[in-house]
Amino acid sequence: MSEHFRVQGGARLVGEVSVVGAKNSVLKLMAAALLAEGTTTLTNCPEILDVPLMADVLRGLGCEVSIDHDEVTIVSPAMPNHRADFASMSKLRASVCVLGPLVARCRKAVVALPGGDAIGSRPLDMHQNGLRQLGATTGIEHGCVVAEAENLTGAQIWLDFPSVGATENILMAAVLADGTTVIDNAAREPEIIDICVMLQQMGAKIEGAGTSTLTVHGVQSLQPTEHRVIGDRIVGATWALAAAMTRGDITVLGVDPGHLNLVLEKLRTAGAEVTTVEQPRQGFRVVMDGRPKAVDFVTLPYPGFATDNQPFAVALAAVAEGTSMITENVFEARFRFVEEMMRMGADARTDGHHCVVRGVEKLSGAPVWASDIRAGAGLVLAGLCAEGVTEVWDVFHIDRGYPQFIENLQRLGADVQRVSAPPER
Ligand code: EPZ
Repeated sequence: MSEHFRVQGGARLVGEVSVVGAKNSVLKLMAAALLAEGTTTLTNCPEILDVPLMADVLRGLGCEVSIDHDEVTIVSPAMPNHRADFASMSKLRASVCVLGPLVARCRKAVVALPGGDAIGSRPLDMHQNGLRQLGATTGIEHGCVVAEAENLTGAQIWLDFPSVGATENILMAAVLADGTTVIDNAAREPEIIDICVMLQQMGAKIEGAGTSTLTVHGVQSLQPTEHRVIGDRIVGATWALAAAMTRGDITVLGVDPGHLNLVLEKLRTAGAEVTTVEQPRQGFRVVMDGRPKAVDFVTLPYPGFATDNQPFAVALAAVAEGTSMITENVFEARFRFVEEMMRMGADARTDGHHCVVRGVEKLSGAPVWASDIRAGAGLVLAGLCAEGVTEVWDVFHIDRGYPQFIENLQRLGADVQRVSAPPER
């Protein structure tokens, strides 16, 4: 039965919300477990759909995986199976991050390509070029990336773009290569630091985590470890924007506010009062009294404004006072959801990389369809500020990235429900 979220707009969200581990970290850390024979334990894992899907990918490669609430245990075999088939890979895009570990461990990988995505094309050319420079041959055969290497040898690699996935795959291959690899123009996302920290705990020699230059001194083998996943900055940003849009007061705990510097600064410009919460329960508080003022947003790799937060920026602009320009520089089709927001009365125009939004006093509830995780969450935020009821369909996208989304919204005072019923189209 198809499910939707029924959002009755108008509530001011108030209260405290806890953020757990980042989807875009845990999936890569699970793949990293392939690099060492034995038992790896990950804690603070989010209870989202993508975690069991990634567990299935790893099981297909010969791992035993168990999930107990926020703890994922992976027993990696002495020699993983090098073939990741389409049936498990097609369910989540992040599964391509098994490529680097498989090449490193098995010196061979056949990894089915997950296919297209609603946010734009997602080629693997940089992943493959990096592996080639480490000495692998690689190509696409029958819908799979095939990579093979007698030996992996450290190399100087320049990425055309600081791709998160390419940085991770090359890094995970380089940790078990002979000699030193330097990855220049590497991604600097906090999730890259997280995987570097875990790999270092496993015995990898990595310098420069969090900078544009990663230097990896290859080692013979790695040992399994126990690691706590960093808090999800994109989920944290979702709550921050929800507070600003609903003129609410939300304290977000479990995420490093330093990972959201730009988001929080933008919200200050929009008129919110933002304070940070210190250790041990790291986080921040966003309080908004009046209508948010229009702010411009430009997406860029970290430390720029994350493309994953862009739908929330459009949602904020839709109800802000004034006109905002939102520029998308990372994925070419990431404005697809804007048409859905326009059905809710958003005054928005997209042209290539740009979206101009003239804020309206109130949106108007409508049935809308989520096309990806963040688009779905953005539509829910818009629904919270709309007159009447918004039905957000295809919520399985949202479930892939947001643990307890509806429950958290309800705790903050939103009038939202998960409903099982066929759509009236
Ligand atoms: C990661 O995707 C995230 N996914 C995405 O989050 C996020 O939007 C993206 O990074 C950017 O921050 C996961 O971590 C699972 P990229 P990834 O490689 O690694 C181009 C979400 O909603 N490119 O940094 O695939 C690519 O087309 C998801 O949680 C190439 O051209 O992103 C894009 O334009 C959606 N060739 C740009 O680089 C390549 O070989 C950045 O992509 C690789 C990438």
